[in-house]
Amino acid sequence: MPDFRQRGDRPFRPERDPCEFASTEDAADSTAVAPRLLVGAGMVRQVAFTLNGKAVRPEVDDGRALLWVLRSDLGLTGTKFGCGSALCGACTVLVDDEAVRSCATRVGDVAGRKVVTIEGLAANGTLHPVQQAFVDRSAFQCGFCTPGLILASVALLHKKPQPTREEIVHELDGNLCRCGSHVRVLAAVQAAAKANAGAVKGGAR
Ligand code: FES
Ligand code: FES
Repeated sequence: MPDFRQRGDRPFRPERDPCEFASTEDAADSTAVAPRLLVGAGMVRQVAFTLNGKAVRPEVDDGRALLWVLRSDLGLTGTKFGCGSALCGACTVLVDDEAVRSCATRVGDVAGRKVVTIEGLAANGTLHPVQQAFVDRSAFQCGFCTPGLILASVALLHKKPQPTREEIVHELDGNLCRCGSHVRVLAAVQAAAKANAGAVKGGAR
């Protein structure tokens, strides 16, 4: 296990996300509960894609999970690691405007595509209307699930600008929130729909 303690006066910043090491070890353990972790074993190459409106070209194992490339290689830690098995939605990002679980997406599969993370939603210092609706309705407590829920909501409103309550519940059902903020999340998405948030795209809009 690498030493993650602070060294000298340098800020604490492990070279790789500690969660990634944990998941790699889990993956090597056949008794681990997370059977679908994408930990690599692809081909090391440059994978070019658009990230939050900018072209990026990280040189990576193309079989690694997009989640780890975003967090460990590109420093975008707004995308969260929850289950690592496509079960909780904490790692949701947008790929070509669709909500995608980045823990279960090979980085090689986003080559040539447009990826938006929570860091790319606000534009020119102004929150995306869905972010603003979450703030206005206090639709979070600890906030761990929030980036995934916001991006899943943006994707929903993009394809269906005026969803019914049932459609919102159905779409966000797989985004788990251990703090139980679902009722306020629902209110936030309904408010965002009213404000026509579906017309506002994320990522260098
Ligand atoms: S971390 Fe990806 S779905 Fe849970
Ligand atoms: S706000 Fe804490 S997990 Fe959802």
